Amino acid sequence: MTNPSSTQDLQLLTLDINGERHEVITESRRTLVDVLRHDLHLTGTHVGCEHGICGACTVLVDGRPARACLMFAAQAEGAEIRTVESLGGSGGELADLQEAFRDHHALQCGFCTPGFLMLAEGFLTERPEATKEEIRDVVAANLCRCTGYQTIVEAIDACATARRTACAQGRKETTGCN
Ligand code: FES
Ligand code: FES
Repeated sequence: MTNPSSTQDLQLLTLDINGERHEVITESRRTLVDVLRHDLHLTGTHVGCEHGICGACTVLVDGRPARACLMFAAQAEGAEIRTVESLGGSGGELADLQEAFRDHHALQCGFCTPGFLMLAEGFLTERPEATKEEIRDVVAANLCRCTGYQTIVEAIDACATARRTACAQGRKETTGCN
């Protein structure tokens, strides 16, 4: 009988997560979200459906939003991974996007929030000039049972507007302007 905990299937992975290098010994078919949450204790990334539908597990892979429940951790080797823990400051300060969510009441239970934050962070980095309609389309990729989405759209739009204003005023260091 095969021992399910056999070490034959284990492999050593080196992952770049939030700017830090992590070495993890794990099964070859373990998902990225399980490695993040259970092996590295980065529990800000949530798990809902585990089937790629809800988006609660969204992280950035080389700057692009990706469902961490649909990736094997091994597939993330060599990529830069960012989780929601990367958004705020080391002293617990909120990022501008997180402040916008708070200010616009874009969360209620908060279960979906890490996924929406990383979805928005990736999208606004790629398209800082996004219109509200474009934001509405992007937000439709993830599920929220509480808010009705409008406040999430408002929050992301407010953050995008504030970043554009800061860039126009030359405050490039805090906004990632081109
Ligand atoms: S938990 Fe990954 S998409 Fe739902
Ligand atoms: S705030 Fe509850 S699921 Fe979105």
